[in-house]
Amino acid sequence: MPSADVPLLCPVCSSPLEHREAEGARQPSLVCRNGHSFDAARQGYFNLLVGKGSPFEPDSAAMVASRFNFLGDGHYRPMEQALAAAVVPNLPAEGAVVLDSGTGTGHYLREILEAAAAAGRQSSAIGLDISKFALRRAARLNPEAVNLVWDIWQPLPVESNSVDAVTVVFAPRNPAEFARVLRPTGALLVVAPRSGHLAELAEVTGMLGIEEGKDERLAAAMAGHFEAESTLDVDIALELSRAAAADLAFMGPAGHHLDRDRIAARLEDTPEPVAAQAKFRLFVFRPTTRMPRNDLATIPRQHP
Ligand SMILES: C[S@@+](CC[C@H](N)C(=O)[O-])C[C@H]1O[C@@H](n2cnc3c(N)ncnc32)[C@H](O)[C@@H]1O
Ligand SMILES: [Zn+2]
Repeated sequence: MPSADVPLLCPVCSSPLEHREAEGARQPSLVCRNGHSFDAARQGYFNLLVGKGSPFEPDSAAMVASRFNFLGDGHYRPMEQALAAAVVPNLPAEGAVVLDSGTGTGHYLREILEAAAAAGRQSSAIGLDISKFALRRAARLNPEAVNLVWDIWQPLPVESNSVDAVTVVFAPRNPAEFARVLRPTGALLVVAPRSGHLAELAEVTGMLGIEEGKDERLAAAMAGHFEAESTLDVDIALELSRAAAADLAFMGPAGHHLDRDRIAARLEDTPEPVAAQAKFRLFVFRPTTRMPRNDLATIPRQHP
């Protein structure tokens, strides 16, 4: 059951949203004082995008299943642990709030919530993603979080100055909105691939490679809202079954233009275990601007 004190705003009128428990046959809901109400889906997430639509292609059910299987097998656990260890020092002992933007299946948030609890931080969490298939999984994995279907390029349905840590792992970033929702002491933690990430696998499967110069583009995109505080590189030497390698290739952007069977067929002649190097960089940013606005209608929509 999500904690009641998550700082959410109604996407229609910008009033605070409150969590209402399930009653009889009724699902739990998020309700504002003007009567706008959003019922939980059967699987436990809330769709706040109702009626708005979005031009973005969400991850499909099949891509999400591959991500769930791959992450569930623990291949990226060292990265999940490194992120959780970097998040926890930013959380106050009580009333901490974490926002995982582009939460996907929720595996990174799971690790963060467990590390926070182990360190005695009482925290609530918001998982946000545009894919309802991803959120079905995330809501099951992280039932204590509020999992929201939302489009990151629209003003976030989250109060200004209310969040201690925003995490973004391999997902789109909206710096102006992250800066608005973070407390002045908060941190934005971004995990991105480094040049050479999964290069061996990209060659065999037709995945997109990682271009050079990504760091510079990230820093430039953050300028004006955030300053970089530190970076940490995490490398993982993967030794995978062909099935796990196919899941890994399919769960990323390649999944939008190749089907999993095509990817699996390309791996048929590759001996097992399939070796690949995961090369991550964790960036910690601090907000430099203050935007204490809670009226979502006054916040311009962003474009990626
Ligand atoms: C590569 S996945 C990463 C998921 C998760 N952070 C992880 O690492 O396992 C990118 C995620 O971003 C989400 N996403 C893409 N565009 C989005 C948007 N405009 N708004 C919100 N989420 C979006 C996708 O649905 C997907 O779950
Ligand atoms: Zn409302």
